[in-house]
Amino acid sequence: MNVITVIGARPQFIKAAPVARALKEAGVREFLLHTGQHYESAMSQVFFDELGIAAPHWHLGCGGGSHGAMTGAMLAGIERILIDHSPDVVLVYGDTNSTLAGALAAAKLHIPVAHVEAGLRSFNKTMPEELNRICTDHISTWLFCPSDLAAGHLADEGVKSGIFVVGDVMEDGLRTTLKRVAREPERLARLGILGSGYALMTLHRAENTDDSERLASILRGISISGHEVVFPMHPRTRAALDRTGLALPPNVKSIPPVGYLDMAALIGGCQYILTDSGGLQKEAFWAGKPCLTLRDETEWNETVTTGWNTLVGASSERIATGSHNISAPTIAPQVNGVQGASQRIAELLLRSEC
Ligand code: UD1
Ligand code: UDP
Repeated sequence: MNVITVIGARPQFIKAAPVARALKEAGVREFLLHTGQHYESAMSQVFFDELGIAAPHWHLGCGGGSHGAMTGAMLAGIERILIDHSPDVVLVYGDTNSTLAGALAAAKLHIPVAHVEAGLRSFNKTMPEELNRICTDHISTWLFCPSDLAAGHLADEGVKSGIFVVGDVMEDGLRTTLKRVAREPERLARLGILGSGYALMTLHRAENTDDSERLASILRGISISGHEVVFPMHPRTRAALDRTGLALPPNVKSIPPVGYLDMAALIGGCQYILTDSGGLQKEAFWAGKPCLTLRDETEWNETVTTGWNTLVGASSERIATGSHNISAPTIAPQVNGVQGASQRIAELLLRSEC
């Protein structure tokens, strides 16, 4: 079986790494197509190096620009490669523009699409990610869901076949990496972090960075909280601060985006997490760190209903109060409790009719 995997953004490199290993072990030939959506070394190459991902067979260089221009350029580039190479399956991850472009290019050529992280819904269609998820799910042959909740969303939308609850491909990777970096305490010192009282923040979603009122309100909340906050800053946020002239409060220590090993060390060492990232909400949960999510809704509802995650939106009051009252619930965190998602995906693809 030949698989072309379309990836392009940071979280996709992290998700694709364990699946690539499982596919290789199962004897599946996988070829990586990097759209170039993320292109700085700290947003892309570092993950290939640290996670042992093979170099991409193709690199489209489609980073930057508007959604339409970026997705359109990806679509044309991916289509050319799929026509030339006729893979049995196109594998896509998550909910970025690279996900949608990969799925759409394949489906129009009648090449079956496998979607990892299928069925997630925030029910907010103003988010580009929600549109990408919905469209990708409805043109995929295999819908690999992380949870029963995600599978239920697909059933609610009338998707009748190809739904498999496999667990979460990020979970095994995070657990292993947390153990590894626990033996490397010098990582935090190298980042200039000496104590463990800090909060870890990531903030990059368009709904927060492209709305200067929301961004200002989030920064105000963090300033009022007074906690030391370590912030690996995404290029989108860096650009938003430059554009708006907003300044980070003095209790925020900003650092460039970090690789996955340093990120795991930051997660392992922090007191709590502030984020608008999808992936980091889950990682907070698996690592047993309380999380304040800087959004009004989440596609990872299980983290909220178990008490580990609180939606504080962009309200400075809720961010400050949430930070002051932060504490870990007594119920142990467990979203899926199912490990081995990557192996399950490889087995299911191999067992298929292709
Ligand atoms: C994308 C995803 C988002 C995901 C995030 C992960 C979409 C619609 N959004 O958002 O779901 O949470 O990736 O990090 O696909 N840039 C750089 N250097 C880079 C990468 C980007 O400067 O290495 C700049 C781009 O030029 C662009 C901006 O950052 O101006 C945003 O990048 P883009 O890929 O459009 O979206 P993200 O905000 O990264
Ligand atoms: N991450 C990282 N370095 C950083 C920030 C995040 O390795 O500087 C990791 C994070 O731990 C998680 C993934 O990137 O595994 C989440 O990606 P991101 O927040 O960019 O995208 P999202 O999950 O929101 O789609």
